[in-house]
Amino acid sequence: MRQFIVVGHDAPTTAEFSLDDLPGAGRLDLLTRCVTSSLLLSHGIREDVRTHLVLSDAFTVSFDGSAVQRLNPDERSTAALVRNALDQREEAVGRMAVEPSPGVSLTRVGLDGTLDAVADDGPVCLLHEDGTSAAELDPPADPVFVLSDHRDFGEAELSVLDEHADRRVTLGPERLHADQAITVAHNWLDTEGFSDYSQ
Ligand SMILES: C[S@@+](CC[C@H](N)C(=O)[O-])C[C@H]1O[C@@H](n2cnc3c(N)ncnc32)[C@H](O)[C@@H]1O
Repeated sequence: MRQFIVVGHDAPTTAEFSLDDLPGAGRLDLLTRCVTSSLLLSHGIREDVRTHLVLSDAFTVSFDGSAVQRLNPDERSTAALVRNALDQREEAVGRMAVEPSPGVSLTRVGLDGTLDAVADDGPVCLLHEDGTSAAELDPPADPVFVLSDHRDFGEAELSVLDEHADRRVTLGPERLHADQAITVAHNWLDTEGFSDYSQ
């Protein structure tokens, strides 16, 4: 299992946003690209992946590759799944999730609660421009990668993350968009650390 937690600092927490302006909806364009980059292959889905979008530290929408349906490569239809989840936010009480569509769930937790929920699943790797080079590390089994959106992690977030994270991993010398970093992280694991390109 691979998991990705993407922290959306300005993301909407209600269903009151327009699918016609996803950048204006707290960069939901970027967040939905993170969902599709993590879960979709060309003509396929990565069933062993779960991706969690933390929305303004108030709600988390999770996508489970083994169960999700109607996940398409375009941003708009993925944003519709997020909006559909937020539309049922009142049903999410405490840590009890609602599942408004197959493989898509919403919980009333922020970053801390999401990290708690995955604590026993595998090592938490903070993807960060200032960390240990991925090429120097063995790709971990069952990793939980944590990324920020278009903004840097704040000081409070970094202290929460440093409590939970086993390591900081750098994927290269350039600052990437979060969805691009997800693609590189998958490639790191797919190739056993950039070494095995057999099919
Ligand atoms: C666009 S960056 C965040 C903002 C960035 N600090 C900036 O100044 O533009 C999005 C996220 O992708 C991940 N990321 C980007 N480049 C990376 C790299 N070279 N190595 C590891 N993670 C990276 C990090 O999680 C980062 O928070």
